[in-house]
Amino acid sequence: MTRKEVIEHAAQMVQATDLVPEKAEGDTMKLVVFGANGPTGQLLTKQALAEGHAVTAVTRHPEAFPLRHARLRVLHGDVFDRLSVEEAVAGQDAVLSTLGVPYSRKPITMYSQGTAHIVWAMNRYGVRRLVSVISSGADRHPGLGGFFFRKVLQPCFIGVVGRTLYADLKRMETLVGNSNLDWTIVRSSGLFWTPAVTDYQAAERSIDGCFTSRADLADFMLRQLTDEQYLHKAVATRSGTPNFYVFFWKEGISKKPSSSKGVPPQGHSRCNAPARVIDQ
Ligand SMILES: NC(=O)c1ccc[n+]([C@@H]2O[C@H](COP(=O)([O-])OP(=O)(O)OC[C@H]3O[C@@H](n4cnc5c(N)ncnc54)[C@H](OP(=O)(O)O)[C@@H]3O)[C@@H](O)[C@H]2O)c1
Repeated sequence: MTRKEVIEHAAQMVQATDLVPEKAEGDTMKLVVFGANGPTGQLLTKQALAEGHAVTAVTRHPEAFPLRHARLRVLHGDVFDRLSVEEAVAGQDAVLSTLGVPYSRKPITMYSQGTAHIVWAMNRYGVRRLVSVISSGADRHPGLGGFFFRKVLQPCFIGVVGRTLYADLKRMETLVGNSNLDWTIVRSSGLFWTPAVTDYQAAERSIDGCFTSRADLADFMLRQLTDEQYLHKAVATRSGTPNFYVFFWKEGISKKPSSSKGVPPQGHSRCNAPARVIDQ
């Protein structure tokens, strides 16, 4: 799948995810989303808009960003460029990050350098709340995961294929943890699509379960803006687990934007939450 196809597919899935506005006007905030153009970032932006927030979506490809809204500012920015981070953060109430890069054998520094710029800008402009996603793979908790995770996924993906990525996530986590901000780090794994928010779970540090729905992850990040339970903590999330083989088939092997036609993929977990509609 080319990068263009991945972006188009993500946009179709975002359009197919229904939301309803929930918040009264007085509860709304000015939010900046880094990584807004990724699959989770687009959903997060859409959910935030649906709740009445004003959103600054930061992307290196503003022309490819699929959402338009009166309360949405799409800003060209690269987190390696401190000035563009500064421009995005100035005047905001909170920062949400779903930044991500693919595995690479070369050294990866996007998470740590980008986050260093974000933390610097937040300190400079007095923005306190930071909610960042990292992969649960960055936490080598000895009891984490089942046999497959410990014996296959961890040695192969975390120890070899993703070694440089997880090393940088670890640096980022340390950097955020040592900051004086009001931070929460969300550790997720196995992101997949559901057409609405489901009855997901969260727990401090780690949780049994390898999958989180992107809609649930976005919802959980937004909930942290008004919930202090996980302030200064890393928290793991889990959604109803899709069939393992269906997950790998749909997310890894057979994913084709032309066949999805704007509807969510089959094989996702059942959703307990009512469907939502966005006010776009
Ligand atoms: N996929 C999974 O199963 C999985 C599992 C566990 C955790 N996670 C984590 O969950 C988060 C979201 O994952 P995702 O799959 O939704 O998104 P993603 O594809 O990893 O990418 C998020 C976005 O980050 C942006 N980005 C990358 N480098 C940047 C830079 N230098 N400056 C500004 N923006 C930059 C890119 O947008 P532009 O190119 O438009 O700038 C990209 O679309 C990531 O942190 C990922 O590590 C994912």
